[in-house]
Amino acid sequence: MAKFLVENKGPLKGEVTISGAKNAVLPIMAATLLTDEECRILDVPDLRDVEVMCKILESLGVDVDADFDGNTLSLAAKNILSNETPVELVRRMRASILTMGPLLARTGSARAPLPGGCAIGARPIDLHLKGFELMGAEIEYGTGYVEARAKRLKGGRVYLDYPSVGATENIMTAAVLAEGTTIIENVAEEPEIVDLANYLNKMGAKIRGAGTDTIKIEGVDKLHGAKHCVIPDRIETGTFMVAAAITRGDVIIKNVVPDHVRPIIAKLTECGAIVEDVEDGLHVKADENPLVATDIKTLPYPGFPTDMQSQFMALLTTVQGKSTVIETVFENRYMHVTELNRMGAGISIEGRSAVIPGDIKLRGAQVMSTDLRAGAALVLAGLTAEGVTEISEIYHIERGYSEFVDKLRKLGAQITRVE
Ligand code: UD1
Repeated sequence: MAKFLVENKGPLKGEVTISGAKNAVLPIMAATLLTDEECRILDVPDLRDVEVMCKILESLGVDVDADFDGNTLSLAAKNILSNETPVELVRRMRASILTMGPLLARTGSARAPLPGGCAIGARPIDLHLKGFELMGAEIEYGTGYVEARAKRLKGGRVYLDYPSVGATENIMTAAVLAEGTTIIENVAEEPEIVDLANYLNKMGAKIRGAGTDTIKIEGVDKLHGAKHCVIPDRIETGTFMVAAAITRGDVIIKNVVPDHVRPIIAKLTECGAIVEDVEDGLHVKADENPLVATDIKTLPYPGFPTDMQSQFMALLTTVQGKSTVIETVFENRYMHVTELNRMGAGISIEGRSAVIPGDIKLRGAQVMSTDLRAGAALVLAGLTAEGVTEISEIYHIERGYSEFVDKLRKLGAQITRVE
């Protein structure tokens, strides 16, 4: 099994360029199922999750031409051969559920294995199914799977009890080919939703309101092929911002939309780091002021992202004073705490709150990456710890960070991947 060995080589310095967003490219790839014409996606990050989505699409009959060196994908769903996402691929990646909306809209049925619990919580899909049902689909539960069927979906009004990212995406991609108008209320407002809507509109869809809490979709009869460049990854951006801060470094981060990372800029600034806009990016300096504690509460966008909670927690162990983190999006997203505590962090948890005492000099240890962002947090912790940090189960990290090791090394980090 591959591992990362990470050592403290002082402050990170230099420039890093962010890749296309994982959470934008996955629903966009699934949405290519909506047309029989070829679609081209640019700025595609070279990630395990993208490879898995390619495999899923291939299993459904899509012609996939992937050029990872050129960060381009050409996808053509001329004939759809199956309406069922293979169980072994769903187990590897929850985002595979995003094929359900497009499959239902294009073929009249979609069957998916029920995604079980995962490391960061139960993650049900009740809201996705509620949306399909309100558009006239019949939902049937079998042993270990769920199937949605509708000859043609009908526009309807859907209110989401929680602004779920995946449910918003699945319902939106189902509604684009429905008969009549669909209004979805209390939707997720994440930049990835806006990117998906922009892509669907290029395919001929009629979507308005993406990025606000209500999306209105006028159904059309047919969609066509489109070319689309994916937005930069705001979580990768945030991770490098925290990498600069935790090592008290000075890093310029390119290919960034600063508006997408406002909560991270705000919190780093509260800690005493300096974050400035530069052309096409951000400059993060943490080598001037001592960094101090701050409190964080994760929320749906534009609140502080749950996907940055663990990385920020690693930083907060090293600053002056006590910080509190409250996780409200997922019920069990503190797996990294046990690992950070192996490194001497001294974090305590009560329910959804974590208290980070701060003023800690972390120590290298053998730790395990329990999920994608938890793994990134351990790498960041290792960059500032005394001694060697050995991180196992790094396939989680490789699911979502493109060329992580190379990018960190170019900034002066000591990190090696060993088999
Ligand atoms: C997406 C992101 C993930 C991020 C998360 C929250 C992708 C591929 N993944 O995941 O990186 O951490 O948004 O920003 O874009 N829920 C329900 N019922 C549902 C759906 C969700 O109760 O039908 C709950 C979940 O259990 C969770 C919360 O809603 O507690 C948020 O989940 P959701 O926004 O759906 O996250 P994902 O789309 O799975």
